[in-house]
Amino acid sequence: MSGKYSANVFVKHEESQCCGAFKLRGVTNHLKSISATQRKKGVITASTGNHGIAVAYASKLLDANATIYLCDNVPQNKVKIIRDYGAKVEFVKGWCLEAQDKALADAEKYGTYYIHPYNSATTVCGAGTLGLEIWDQMKALNVKRIDAVFACVGGGGLLSGVSTYLKSKDPSIKFYGCSARRTPAMYECLKAKEIVTIPPT
Ligand SMILES: Cc1ncc(COP(=O)(O)O)c(C=O)c1O
Repeated sequence: MSGKYSANVFVKHEESQCCGAFKLRGVTNHLKSISATQRKKGVITASTGNHGIAVAYASKLLDANATIYLCDNVPQNKVKIIRDYGAKVEFVKGWCLEAQDKALADAEKYGTYYIHPYNSATTVCGAGTLGLEIWDQMKALNVKRIDAVFACVGGGGLLSGVSTYLKSKDPSIKFYGCSARRTPAMYECLKAKEIVTIPPT
């Protein structure tokens, strides 16, 4: 990639992170910030897969009773991983927003702690540890300046955390959120300057 773009490109391999994504960072921050009693009472979340896997895994380690709300189209292999870690799964008809609405309503009803996949300061702070690692690793490699960081964007938790940390170190670093063409929700919302609903493809 460095040759192709005539730049020094570094890749942070979060796919080889435990649970296959960066999600464990925010989830662990949530579970460590609540009491053991609350963890036992229950934690709840909605997910399209990766976040649910991280909540299920961390809940097993930290002795929390986790329930993961999933929409129908979550791949079966991810459902199995979540169940194998011992979390309860609730399916919700529709798309991920329907799963999120139902999970939020049930968290309120049963007094369980909701672990938001992206729209929470605790989630964002956890994701910020990735920014800290990028900064420290670049220093260790004697890289003088970071010009730009590219990160996948769904709800924006990852990019918010990474950019908040790195901007505090060097405000000139540029950040680019990358979405697959099939899932342009953040792009369309920013373009419209309001939250818009993108029909599932
Ligand atoms: C592998 C991967 N990368 C990026 C994202 C986007 O993260 P965020 O919702 O914090 O923008 C997700 C969200 O599910 C993900 O699973």
